[in-house]
Amino acid sequence: MPTVEVLPLAELPEGSVRAVTVEGYPLLAVYNLGGEVFATDDLCTHGNASLAEGDIEGDEIICPFHEGSFDIRTGEAVGPPCMVPIRTYPARVVDGAIHVELPD
Ligand code: FES
Repeated sequence: MPTVEVLPLAELPEGSVRAVTVEGYPLLAVYNLGGEVFATDDLCTHGNASLAEGDIEGDEIICPFHEGSFDIRTGEAVGPPCMVPIRTYPARVVDGAIHVELPD
């Protein structure tokens, strides 16, 4: 599994989410929950919405289109109309930068 550096942690304050591009992969959303970092697909599974444009509430990302929600930690769809989970990717901070493990 390739591990890709996507963003300096300093550019992702606690409680925020940003979309990041990694060549060859779907757009990712990276999150900072109280200093812990997470990564998921950016595309909502309910429609053509960027989750990075949504709001974080607790451990959930709220989709900006129909306000469905997902658990950022697990990808589980937790708020209707979302039913299908989003994919998650292992993420961690190494030397001040966010690294995401992506499938081959
Ligand atoms: S597109 Fe995300 S909830 Fe509908």
